[in-house]
Amino acid sequence: MLEIKNLSLGIHTSKGLTQAVSDVSFQIKPGKVLGLVGESGCGKTLTAQSILRLGEHQGVKVMGGDVLLNGKSVFDLSSKQLCQFRGAQVSMVFQEPMTALNPVFSIGSQMIEVIRLHLGLSKKEARQRAVSLLKDVGLLKVERILDQYPDSLSGGMRQRVLIAMAISAKPAYIIADEPTTALDVSVQSKIIELLKKLQRENQVGLLLVSHDFGLIAELADDVAVMYAGQIVEYAPVNAIFDRPLHPYTRFLMACRPEVVEDGQALPVIEGHVPLPGQWEKGCRFYHRCHLHQDQCRESDIALRSMDDQQKLRCVLDDHA
Ligand SMILES: Nc1ncnc2c1ncn2[C@@H]1O[C@H](COP(=O)(O)OP(=O)(O)OP(=O)(O)O)[C@@H](O)[C@H]1O
Ligand SMILES: [Mg+2]
Repeated sequence: MLEIKNLSLGIHTSKGLTQAVSDVSFQIKPGKVLGLVGESGCGKTLTAQSILRLGEHQGVKVMGGDVLLNGKSVFDLSSKQLCQFRGAQVSMVFQEPMTALNPVFSIGSQMIEVIRLHLGLSKKEARQRAVSLLKDVGLLKVERILDQYPDSLSGGMRQRVLIAMAISAKPAYIIADEPTTALDVSVQSKIIELLKKLQRENQVGLLLVSHDFGLIAELADDVAVMYAGQIVEYAPVNAIFDRPLHPYTRFLMACRPEVVEDGQALPVIEGHVPLPGQWEKGCRFYHRCHLHQDQCRESDIALRSMDDQQKLRCVLDDHA
């Protein structure tokens, strides 16, 4: 099981070290999919990248909490163990496939390097494995693709190559951060189908970071809704769709393009997500919430269990 426990992360701003993710906890069981949703700037990427300790090189500091794979902390891994962990146990698919590939090396040489690193194969065997992986992700003429460079492939093809690399060492978990956002709409659904197929066939646990509730509905078992560095609601996907409780979750649900009638303007949530350093006491959604009351600002609000599955960070009992 992959467990994020009370994780708090800090970033460096002009005010010094500032908290950007507060006390985030969630779990992903083997073969299950957790959707992490929220507007831009809520801390989704910071959280996702911290699982692989990728933020450390970008000045992101762990201020508290832990990331555990099968009970073992990733923060205790040596750099050699960490290298093996990334890819062989947990791997990542990024939003922008171009930046995740190195433009000066052919697809083949990048894939072969990753495969050899994790599986210890000879060059020839690694090439054969690359060929079969590229076929697995639905690419044709794969021998030719191996000799090509990233900029000669389309965005959708590049994302397929990255997915092939992400599954090359058969990781138990994949973190996909907005895997379709940078792609054309027509390609998005194909990549989603591919992720779904690979996830089901290989029983991979998936952390799916997305703005897109359609994508979440299709893939996720559970959903964590994030706002200003905190999880504000956490529940099985059906509960999020059937009875969202947090006013923020309700807003996000109401702003989905698929629920707005043709010709009608998409509703927008007035205001913006407060940035790290701008958080006030109490509810961080206070200024944008149409239900807010004085008690929402009196003290910080805990994530409370509403039943054995749904958790909510809101003091109100009546969310109608
Ligand atoms: N390395 C960093 N150094 C300083 N600030 C950072 C760093 N990474 C992220 N931030 C800031 O932390 C906040 C959360 O960023 P993050 O990228 O996690 O948001 P996000 O939820 O992934 O948003 P998006 O949906 O736009 O990808 C933002 O205000 C961002 O500017
Ligand atoms: Mg992000």
